[in-house]
Amino acid sequence: MSQILINRYFPTTRLRRLRQNETLRLLTQENTLSANDLIQPLFICDGKKQKIAIPSMPDIYRYSLDNALKYIEKLVENGINTIALFPAIEADKKNPLATEALNPQGLVPEALQIIKKHFPDIMIIADIALDPYTSHGQDGLVNEAGYILNDETVEVLREQALLLAQSGADIVAPSDMMDGRVGAIRGILEENNLVNTLILSYSAKYASSFYGPFRDAVGSKSMLGKSDKKNYQMNPANSDEALHEVYLDLQEGADIVMVKPATLYMDIIRRIHETYHVPTFAYHVSGEYSMLKSAVAQGWLDEKSCVLETLLGLKRAGSSAILTYYALNASQWLKQL
Ligand code: PBG
Repeated sequence: MSQILINRYFPTTRLRRLRQNETLRLLTQENTLSANDLIQPLFICDGKKQKIAIPSMPDIYRYSLDNALKYIEKLVENGINTIALFPAIEADKKNPLATEALNPQGLVPEALQIIKKHFPDIMIIADIALDPYTSHGQDGLVNEAGYILNDETVEVLREQALLLAQSGADIVAPSDMMDGRVGAIRGILEENNLVNTLILSYSAKYASSFYGPFRDAVGSKSMLGKSDKKNYQMNPANSDEALHEVYLDLQEGADIVMVKPATLYMDIIRRIHETYHVPTFAYHVSGEYSMLKSAVAQGWLDEKSCVLETLLGLKRAGSSAILTYYALNASQWLKQL
């Protein structure tokens, strides 16, 4: 900034003039948050009348499909029109090859059909990855040495994407971080004339320690044991690499890209947004949710204001939408403002 401008700053310019009342603050507000920006992740399980608590994620439950429908009704009433489905698969249906992922009568295909029948206008995101279905808890197939096989896994993922798109998913979301999976999925969708199915790619998905509560929720943590996902998820130290991942996913046919986790990676969201100008979603993950919940439970943080500040911060960073376990609560709080 030039010397002349600096000299003219004070008292000619007093930025507090713009902050003196709520009307002025709103007139000059640069970013906003609304229910339109929010996506609710939803854990589903087999059975009837099930609503199973997840101890590491207070107020989040696994729902059987009958109860999931009631929950979705509440979402719609509050202006949340997009959900992301995650299945908790019974342990006896898991195996090393994740064969249950391709079962047309499986939990997710059934959920997609039922939800679409009751709520045709809801946008449903179906996760593409094998971890809910593998007995080892990894997102892909493994060899004898425990290495996650890339191309073999992509073969299964494209079949999974086709099945879920045919079952009613509007958006398929590969969260596995295999190389080349977006192109493979786009290819099979085109071959099957599913030209309007969107691909939301978890492009910059970091090997984060903040996914622990989610792994409790889908039951993959005990399966995973001491293993990690560092040979496919990104190194938290890297930023340029995220741009490279996004570049490739866009070339391969992604419609929307995503950064995960969200709040620790706001710099990545901003760089992607400024570099590519494409819809960029943020996944406010389970650990980020549980951190807030636990501080709130202690009485150390005010839940409503801290959550809304977090989500607005993600908008300011450049997110076009946010997956958050707080979507329903936030939409209710936003109505009260
Ligand atoms: C796995 C998947 C994970 C999440 C979404 N999809 C966990 C993982 O990579 O182990 C995490 C979401 C969260 O923590 O809220 N395909």
